Amino acid sequence: MKKRFAVILAAGQGTRMKSKLHKVLHAICGKPMVEHVTDQVSQLGMDKIVTIVGHGAEEVKLQLEGKCLFVLQEEQLGTAHAVIQAKPLLKDEDGTTVVVCGDTPLIKAETIEALMKHHENQGAKATILTAYVANPTGYGRIIRDDAGHIERIVEHKDATQEEREVKEINTGIYCFDNKALFSVLDKVSNHNTQGEYYLPDAIGILKAKGSVIAAYQTDDFEQSLGVNDRVQLAAAEKILQRRINEFHMKNGVTIRDPEHTYIGSDVVIGQDTVIEPGVMLAGNVTIGQNCHIGPNTEIKNCHVGNDTTIRQSVAADSAIGSHVQIGPFSHIRPLSEIADDAKIGNFVEMKKVSFGRGSKAPHLSYIGDAEVGSGVNIGCGSITVNYDGKNKYLTKIEDEAFIGCNSNLVSPVTIGKGAFVAAGSTITNDVPGEALSIARAKQINKEGYVQKLNFKK
Ligand code: UD1
Ligand code: CA
Repeated sequence: MKKRFAVILAAGQGTRMKSKLHKVLHAICGKPMVEHVTDQVSQLGMDKIVTIVGHGAEEVKLQLEGKCLFVLQEEQLGTAHAVIQAKPLLKDEDGTTVVVCGDTPLIKAETIEALMKHHENQGAKATILTAYVANPTGYGRIIRDDAGHIERIVEHKDATQEEREVKEINTGIYCFDNKALFSVLDKVSNHNTQGEYYLPDAIGILKAKGSVIAAYQTDDFEQSLGVNDRVQLAAAEKILQRRINEFHMKNGVTIRDPEHTYIGSDVVIGQDTVIEPGVMLAGNVTIGQNCHIGPNTEIKNCHVGNDTTIRQSVAADSAIGSHVQIGPFSHIRPLSEIADDAKIGNFVEMKKVSFGRGSKAPHLSYIGDAEVGSGVNIGCGSITVNYDGKNKYLTKIEDEAFIGCNSNLVSPVTIGKGAFVAAGSTITNDVPGEALSIARAKQINKEGYVQKLNFKK
């Protein structure tokens, strides 16, 4: 098989986004646009993937680290000028080079594969991925001769009125014979309305040299949607969201209202799990089988086991076991590990807690920096006092301990195995296993005292 290379264009400023964030780093379904592109391209067994960076170069490199090579385009003089920057890495290679814009996040690996196959079958020097669109405004138009062969591409801003009528557009994705590409890029001029070196002009130059130019038309315009402003960003996100949700539904997940369910592109969900409206699953999330998530629940970077229910809650950077019940209105903050059969109820916040098997914190608690064993019951309103204004300390609650309602566990402190803390206690010293600890003011009843003070009329 011929060698394959990819060049991803990601150096442009993205003026139309009106943003401090570099355009290709704007996220779609939780992942930056350019990363969607590199992830698709890397499925195709490329020998080299070169990303052209410029604006926001350091941030883009950080985001794509390990996924591709980088070349800096110091000044953004146009898409042809961008590709020239890859010359030191590619010029001596024989093979096929695919060029993809970093702002077309919906393109699928299978479409690029079909484009490359078509290119190779046609023996072409260049093949353009084209699409028909109802509203081609802003895109480069495909100009064909009377025999229907591609002649050149004209940018919207340079096109005549007649050329603007053309509804076949350049998706910005091309295949080139690698050496032919680098032999013509230097010949592209910037004599156009934008004063830029246009990559599409390389096609016209190759054509004029008598090279075979081919086109591969996709009937799925959505894949080639280019994102230049935030209206297109929202449109692209909607399409990807629908695609992701359909994928999960076809896989056996019930999504009750796909229009209002936001699932990141790398999320994994098991069979027969039900996702209610208003759920957002972002980043590295895996959810097991038969879970019930939502409504209105936000989960980021968490692993969730099977048969777990999470309602009206927020969870981040944590591991949640099987048969767990969370919510409504719980907040699971980073570095928490909730074991199987646990219950975390209304208005309970946890941070950096290992919460043992079958343990319960059913109402109104804050548990932070704690190791909680199995079978523990934490009564309503009890909290760990983990912070003295300067440092944070650990609270240990051993297996089967019972913490009465409204207790303060002032850390560092250990509640021993099977110990019982009486309601309303403020515990500042360790409690031995099996002990009952009462740390509250003693109740005194003064009989008839109210009458004596004449409080009541
Ligand atoms: C480009 C195409 C147009 C096509 C459309 C598809 C050109 C001249 N035009 O137009 O024919 O229909 O894409 O979406 O290529 N970039 C660089 N360096 C530069 C300039 C741009 O890396 O100097 C990158 C941008 O970051 C972007 C991509 O190239 O990811 C495309 O640039 P953009 O300015 O968005 O081109 P369009 O006007 O959309
Ligand atoms: Ca664009």
